[in-house]
Amino acid sequence: MKTKLSVNINKIATIRNARGGNTPNLIEAAENIEIFGADGITIHPRPDERHITLQDTYDLSKVVTTEFNIEGYPNERFIKIIKDLNPTQATLVPDPPNVLTSNAGWDTIKHFDFLTEVIKELKTSGTRISLFIETDAKFIENAKKVGADRIEFYTGPYAETYAKNKQKAIQPYVKMAEVAIKNELGINAGHDLSLDNLKYFKQNIPQLAEVSIGHALISDALYLGLENTVAMYKDLLNDD
Ligand code: PXP
Repeated sequence: MKTKLSVNINKIATIRNARGGNTPNLIEAAENIEIFGADGITIHPRPDERHITLQDTYDLSKVVTTEFNIEGYPNERFIKIIKDLNPTQATLVPDPPNVLTSNAGWDTIKHFDFLTEVIKELKTSGTRISLFIETDAKFIENAKKVGADRIEFYTGPYAETYAKNKQKAIQPYVKMAEVAIKNELGINAGHDLSLDNLKYFKQNIPQLAEVSIGHALISDALYLGLENTVAMYKDLLNDD
């Protein structure tokens, strides 16, 4: 299966915001990342606007021609964004407002009614819904029951264990990918994926539909350039 590379551009907005002007230009960066071969652009417009602003979100929706993936906690603001813009995909994350980065998946049992309700509402816009999930069969089975189309595996634990023992790191994801497939859920993955650990993940989860990568990719681009870096990540996702 072809695995799509969606580049998370939050970090580009973080650098821009450090000076308050428009350098680097986020819109140009998104357009170039697409030209360089990425299959999608991901953003996480947090309520505190510490990186992607509401204005960025609406501006980007006019220029992104590949898959546009908007992540966030489904509060009123987020639901309005999705309904207004009808992006390709909304990835719902369970973050409390001031968390540094998304570092846990949904408990789809505890939040069953809430998720069922918001997904029903979001689906009226035609947007594909993905739920950020850890490697737990019951959370995956309930992701299907609340109406999600896909899950996004939280790969932070994979990345952490990979350096010490890659077989051990991948094992739960291989098992849980089977659960997702059995439940007819598409499989995305994201968090701490990198030039080091991406290929092994893809090789072991051949049904992987999409990865969204930000921190490592933008950091690599400081040394390698954005064009080379996007090409290198794309190359790791090749089937051969
Ligand atoms: N997926 C989700 C839900 C995220 O919140 C993030 C970080 O914004 C990512 C993927 C990408 O993680 P990283 O920046 O570590 O590549």
